Amino acid sequence: MTPQLSEFIQASLKRIDAALERALARLAASDEASIEQSLLAAMRYSLLNGGKRIRPILVYASASLAGPTPGANQREAEDAIASAVECIHAYSLVHDDLPAMDDDDLRRGQPTCHIAFDEATAILAGDALQTLAFDCVSHCAALDWRSRVQLMQLLGQAAGARGMVAGQAMDLASVDKPLSLAQLQAMHSHKTGALIKASVLMGAAATGELDTTRQRQLETYADAIGLAFQVQDDILDVISDTATLGKQQGADIAKNKPTYVSLLGLDGARQKAGELHQQALQALADCGSQADILRQLSSYIVGRVR
Ligand code: IPE
Ligand code: IPE
Ligand code: MG
Ligand code: MG
Ligand code: MG
Repeated sequence: MTPQLSEFIQASLKRIDAALERALARLAASDEASIEQSLLAAMRYSLLNGGKRIRPILVYASASLAGPTPGANQREAEDAIASAVECIHAYSLVHDDLPAMDDDDLRRGQPTCHIAFDEATAILAGDALQTLAFDCVSHCAALDWRSRVQLMQLLGQAAGARGMVAGQAMDLASVDKPLSLAQLQAMHSHKTGALIKASVLMGAAATGELDTTRQRQLETYADAIGLAFQVQDDILDVISDTATLGKQQGADIAKNKPTYVSLLGLDGARQKAGELHQQALQALADCGSQADILRQLSSYIVGRVR
């Protein structure tokens, strides 16, 4: 990793952790008596127990295309958007790990939410994290009303029955079934790509209206890295170990899930990840040095070890 990216990631982690703390504090302060403490604890547990924060980092990176040092208003808008995408992501993991879905016990090196609490609490914590995502955007005074609505539309589409949830449904329906490469790509692009794409596009939208060319370039970049992220997740499930991943290694094979490795083999999956990285770079070819962090993040996504 370059020093530039390492510095950017460290700064982004500080920002997102502080922003998520603020979001939870607002929730706790709003009407304390009406919030079950175990629900709040399960939300906090799932939101603040580590995680690479790649989606918030992408929000900040994409917003930085407009310039490296945002003003206070701009920072507030970016933090709200970054919090929103991370809340959706955290909820998706809580539900993904449930017995009715992937039935996993370990997440980020700790017991999954339904093990640390109980299943009903985990379901509700996921539900509440999802609505908290929309709260983060709808309450952001740094954004005008029109922008808030546009951002919530982007997020709703990416997270819902035409986005991440559609991908999760395809994933569950595909257990024990052979998928074509096109079907696998559709599944991965929905279950993981959609929210990653939304992170890039929402980050850019926080800086104002994008021209059509820049919008297209970012969409192509985001499609490529979103798919690459899940291809690498499939690869790591095979080649990594449980301690490094913080989640059970070999879980896909154990559940007979179709993955890029099961369809193309390890070398084929690695080649696919490399091709997607090249597509991402190509998309940003004329974006100048402001896009360096986005370029380096694409490289990080396909080279990551956890
Ligand atoms: C895991 O996402 C689930 C997928 C979409 C592949 P991450 O690998 O981003 O998980 P954390 O947030 O870093 O734990
Ligand atoms: C999860 O994909 C995608 C989500 C929307 C959460 P996986 O099921 O492969 O993610 P991990 O491997 O459990 O993190
Ligand atoms: Mg899953
Ligand atoms: Mg899973
Ligand atoms: Mg996985």
